[in-house]
Amino acid sequence: MIKLITATAFALLVSFAAAQPAIDGAIADGEYANTATHDDSGMVVYWTIDDDMIYMGFTLEARGWVGVGWADEMTNRKAGFDVIIVTEEDGEYVLLDMFQESARGEPVLDSEEGGSNTVVDFAASRDGDLWTVEFSRPLDTGEDTDVAITPGTPMIFMGAYANVMDPGRAHGRSTQGGAWYIEDFIF
Ligand code: HEM
Repeated sequence: MIKLITATAFALLVSFAAAQPAIDGAIADGEYANTATHDDSGMVVYWTIDDDMIYMGFTLEARGWVGVGWADEMTNRKAGFDVIIVTEEDGEYVLLDMFQESARGEPVLDSEEGGSNTVVDFAASRDGDLWTVEFSRPLDTGEDTDVAITPGTPMIFMGAYANVMDPGRAHGRSTQGGAWYIEDFIF
């Protein structure tokens, strides 16, 4: 009987560990349940859905800031996309929870548009120019400045990177590989 309880406890521990990636700026093999690679940029996206939370990570090479975004559909270029930018400020990595209002041009901080930073946990690291970013967030934050992630439904995912650590400065042109969409992205 004791053996059975021990075995059950162990099994629970293992599935718990597999379900919840460690948000520590390092992504181990098999840490996330899902992964997708964008060949042109070399970006690898990782995610695990656990109950009402999403754990997301990505690796991407860039001299400056890196960012991801998602939306249900594209209506007017990138207008309406949820946006996360990760950059370096005063020697620290910072995550900016943003929203893209305009079809082109820069996103705005959620906190400046009536929303808030809904990211629960965040960590990043850099190995040379190779970023590793991890964060967690409720799938549906209920805020107008966030786009709810609906697992199993095709969405549009986007990524971008800049050559400077200043989110006031744009990524490279999308026509030159500095920003891209991944259509039919299913979380
Ligand atoms: C997570 C961050 C960001 C992502 C994922 C992203 C993604 C994109 C994408 C996919 C496009 C192509 C739009 C289209 O033609 O349909 C685009 C365009 C553009 N973005 Fe961003 N963007 C981000 C942040 C920014 C920031 C911070 C700025 C400015 C400070 C900016 C400025 C622009 C401009 C000027 C264009 C139009 C020129 C072009 O297509 O290259 N973006 N962005």
